[in-house]
Amino acid sequence: MLVHSALALTLVSSLAAPVLARSPHGAPAPHLRARAEASAPTASTHAQTSRVVAGAATTEAASATVTAAATKKAAAAEGSPLPLTQYTYAYSDVPYQVNPYKSIRGPQSGYNICNSTTAGDSSQCQTLIANDIQDFCLWGSSLTGDGLDTIGDIEAAVVAYCTTDKHGARVIKPGAITGVQVLKTPAYIQWTGFIDQTALHLTKDDTGGELDPHGADLQGNPLGGLVYSTGLPSGDNQTYLQAVEWNNFIGGGVFCLKLCDPAYYAKHGDQFFCQNKYDRIGCARNMPAAYRDGEFSVCDSELQDLVGVYTEDGQVKTYTQEPEGTVPNPPYTPRVPKSSNCKTYASTELWAAPTTSSASSMSTGQTSSSASSAGVTGHAAAASAGPSDSSKSTTGNGATFLVASSGFLALVAGAAVLLARL
Ligand SMILES: *[C@@H]1O[C@H](CO)[C@@H](O)[C@H](O)[C@H]1NC(C)=O
Ligand SMILES: *[C@@H]1O[C@H](CO)[C@@H](O)[C@H](O)[C@H]1NC(C)=O
Repeated sequence: MLVHSALALTLVSSLAAPVLARSPHGAPAPHLRARAEASAPTASTHAQTSRVVAGAATTEAASATVTAAATKKAAAAEGSPLPLTQYTYAYSDVPYQVNPYKSIRGPQSGYNICNSTTAGDSSQCQTLIANDIQDFCLWGSSLTGDGLDTIGDIEAAVVAYCTTDKHGARVIKPGAITGVQVLKTPAYIQWTGFIDQTALHLTKDDTGGELDPHGADLQGNPLGGLVYSTGLPSGDNQTYLQAVEWNNFIGGGVFCLKLCDPAYYAKHGDQFFCQNKYDRIGCARNMPAAYRDGEFSVCDSELQDLVGVYTEDGQVKTYTQEPEGTVPNPPYTPRVPKSSNCKTYASTELWAAPTTSSASSMSTGQTSSSASSAGVTGHAAAASAGPSDSSKSTTGNGATFLVASSGFLALVAGAAVLLARL
């Protein structure tokens, strides 16, 4: 695996060096369960690439080409995919699979056309919809039944879990989400909150990681994952627009998801809020917000500071995440942007109450932020200490948050270091 990954990185970076600026945390990670037979990519993929380029164009004819190609059995596909962010589709033109191509990590594990026949517990839907506080999805493990993964194990193959069954995906069981804040800004729309992450088939103690449409090989995590919303700032509340750039952290019972509006970025090229290079410093610094467990709210918000940018003694500074293998130690407290026009909801106004079968583990979180199960205690700790006061981030609670929302194996070491400081 390591040899293959290193090879992939070398090949990919020679093809795509300009965009490969982020830390390739994916390189040594165990990417894709059951992807034992990785084949080396061929360097001579120009023919296939131009075919895909043509297919990725927005004309109906071209997308029909891609759809036809994509519906062929994935295993038969040859060639190499474009970077995931170069695949843009009208929602009605989404192909069966964006990435049916064999590569080190590919083809993608699931599919992009998701409908009533694919909805349910075994859905492999890899199109994520996030519209508003009531109606959004998060990425989670493709396991079923009692199976639990860590996000690091499954990042390449995560599938959509939604608050409704309307999107052909899995449904997040009632009561699992115990707090959410949606922030609407001119540049992005963002969800932050608290979840019993076993509802996403993730282990309770998974400190988690970051998902985005890039990854070391630019194929995204998940491979082929698409994201759409009717709620983007330039949207009309009805039409699904593609959020080509997005990112999502999940871990330690905390999640955050940000969808950047391509229309805003097209006008303000220096203001990009969906960076993925801060993938090990968690929700608090990537998506600063109130993080209150037990609260469900939608607010207008000012823009956050660009991730990593902070002001100290009147001076604007930029933090660079430490290289892989070094525990990140950002020297700043993230500024939580001012919010306004907040509307708060009871969770029962948004979703069904938990059913009795899951009530023993879920109802405490659903109805009270002071519930005492281990998961909810962890949530509360994260909420109180993480984002709002990182000067206390080396207290136990802060450590919980920082560890909770950062990524992958390095963080296991990071957890030890943070905890040792207490
Ligand atoms: C529903 O989704 C499946 C899986 O992507 C697809 O094969 C099927 O054609 C879809 N059905 C309709 C009516 O779009
Ligand atoms: C979308 O819906 C929200 C909430 O109902 C409303 O405030 C906003 O004005 C709507 N936007 C458009 C473009 O209709």
